[in-house]
Amino acid sequence: MYCTRKVTDDLTWVGADDRRLACFEGVYGVPDGVSYNSYLLIDDKTVLFDTVDKAVSRTFFENVAHALGGRKLDYLVISHMEPDHAATIDELTLRYPDVTVVCNDRIKTMLGQFFRLSDTLKYHIVKEGDTLSTGKHNFTFVMAPMVHWPEVMMTYDLTDKMLFSADAFGTFGALNGHLFNDEVDFFTDYLDEARRYYTNIVGKYGTQVQAVLKKAAGLELNYVCPLHGFVWRSHFGDFLDKYLKWSSYTPEENGVMIAYASVYGHTENTVNILACKLAERGVKTKVFDTSVTPASYILSNAFKYSHMVLASTTYNAGIFVTMENLVHDIANHNLRNRKVAILENGSWAPTSGSLIKKALSGLKGTEFIGETISLKSDITDAQLAELDALADAIAADVNPVIPAFEPVETPDALPVDNAVFTKFNYGVEVLTTRVDGVDYGCIINTACQVAACDPKKITISVIKKNNTCDMVMKAGKFNISILTEEAPYSLFQHFGFQSGRDVDKFADCEHNERTANGVRYIPQYTNAVLSCEVIDVKDVETQMLFIANVVEAKVLSEEKSCTYAYYHAHIKPKKNPAPEQKAGYVCKVCGYFHEGELPEDFSCPLCHHGPEDFEKVVPAVVKKQKGYICTVCGHFEPCEGELPKDYTCPLCHHGPEDFEPAEQ
Ligand code: FEO
Repeated sequence: MYCTRKVTDDLTWVGADDRRLACFEGVYGVPDGVSYNSYLLIDDKTVLFDTVDKAVSRTFFENVAHALGGRKLDYLVISHMEPDHAATIDELTLRYPDVTVVCNDRIKTMLGQFFRLSDTLKYHIVKEGDTLSTGKHNFTFVMAPMVHWPEVMMTYDLTDKMLFSADAFGTFGALNGHLFNDEVDFFTDYLDEARRYYTNIVGKYGTQVQAVLKKAAGLELNYVCPLHGFVWRSHFGDFLDKYLKWSSYTPEENGVMIAYASVYGHTENTVNILACKLAERGVKTKVFDTSVTPASYILSNAFKYSHMVLASTTYNAGIFVTMENLVHDIANHNLRNRKVAILENGSWAPTSGSLIKKALSGLKGTEFIGETISLKSDITDAQLAELDALADAIAADVNPVIPAFEPVETPDALPVDNAVFTKFNYGVEVLTTRVDGVDYGCIINTACQVAACDPKKITISVIKKNNTCDMVMKAGKFNISILTEEAPYSLFQHFGFQSGRDVDKFADCEHNERTANGVRYIPQYTNAVLSCEVIDVKDVETQMLFIANVVEAKVLSEEKSCTYAYYHAHIKPKKNPAPEQKAGYVCKVCGYFHEGELPEDFSCPLCHHGPEDFEKVVPAVVKKQKGYICTVCGHFEPCEGELPKDYTCPLCHHGPEDFEPAEQ
């Protein structure tokens, strides 16, 4: 009997779960099973996107027949030739001999390697950017080599804005009836298995994954349909964030993954002592026994954490077999940018430490922390101090201590003149972010590069009372669009002088450009956009200071950047002084105004009426109000004394430091 689910009115999932598989690809245990996804589109033409593993072929063919509803199958789009998706292609072509196979050249070559298909089988060969129309739906093809094999391609449905993403964005685990990501608590229940799937299957090919993510960044996505795991129809940006981290070998957490291989428990005990010392120093640890936990789980955690400790006994004059397998896996998966500490054991000739170091030393960005601790059987009392030193070194690197500075007394210092702060040469930017599918943005003038390392780092500070500040805290990601001198005042008013709590600032926006993190940017009146991931936050009284990694950056135009000074001098409108009222007489007949006293023989120069038709005009005495004017947005706040220290401008939320005394 068929077992299918609708993705959309036109598209049906015709895949299946497999819970009997012991080892995916013969090596990765899948205790929660795995799904093989295939999708059937009903349009003027019918299209099947990939097939499934042999293990679930019976259900699959019943699903396809049911979803076709008696129609013939016109196209089979093949994304990937690995047999977990391609094993049933030969049987499919026997059941539907009139089908046209849509694939690229490499896939066609592999079809010949795996199968002896009919010579009469029809092919439609595509390459990057080619299109195919099936009636209502129009498709384009995106080549994705090495994600996960060299022939892989993705298919984008321009009509429903749907990406058939091949292995990318998949996860281990059966679907258990839940087809969509929002039918489960993905980030609580499935993220670990999604990470294990990514790191083990395509972790080696981070560069190629990044290349595909850049292509995907230009696509509007309502659905992402991978070959394993859930169909994404919401919060995809959050999953994309994980892919950006994993593919750039950026740790998700500051902490230590400790893996040990121990035959009689001495190495294990030493590792436990080290874990205690690290915990006492406030360092998060996750410890694995390589003889118990399969390497795929440990590798996944090596990707997750910033640091690792590898501890192994020496065996046959080499690394203990289970640790050797793990080290081999880490090296083969090209893990980069990790800090590694090593502990070895060997009752008469310890060698495992130097061999581990040699195996990992070629990995880009790998740094070794501390001296290798070398045990001969059990740890000695003297070596406890070595463990302390190693724990200190690791803790200092995981959680660097910033020394507290004592305020310095400077009794002769001049008072702080707020005008000094207008002399800084700030740029002006639109800060944008996205939370729960809603876009937010505000004007800032505080973006600043603080480190040129890889990834580059910037800081921004945002007024705490700004809604966008709260949203950046929630999202952990943001974009900076750098404004140019062409930016109109209305843009500053739109993003700067109203709150996202009251209005949707993007409600009538005709543009919807986004970077790969799913966050909007401003494509007009800007010359560059940077996508950033928050790595640290400091509370600085009125503002929050965000420190962030730059994960994407592109130049949008060669226009000059707008500085804060330029905004004040050339964009912000000048206030017109109120016209001065004068004393005199106005003619009641024609309105002519005569300044000063009216002579007795005066005759109106316009209507020739005499003084009897004039009435005196006395200028109203306007009592000027004392207060403060916001130098950012021009808001005038009546105030007799000082502005309260916690005062914030009702328009732009700037504090008293951005106000200057004024009378109106
Ligand atoms: Fe799911 Fe690379 O096959």
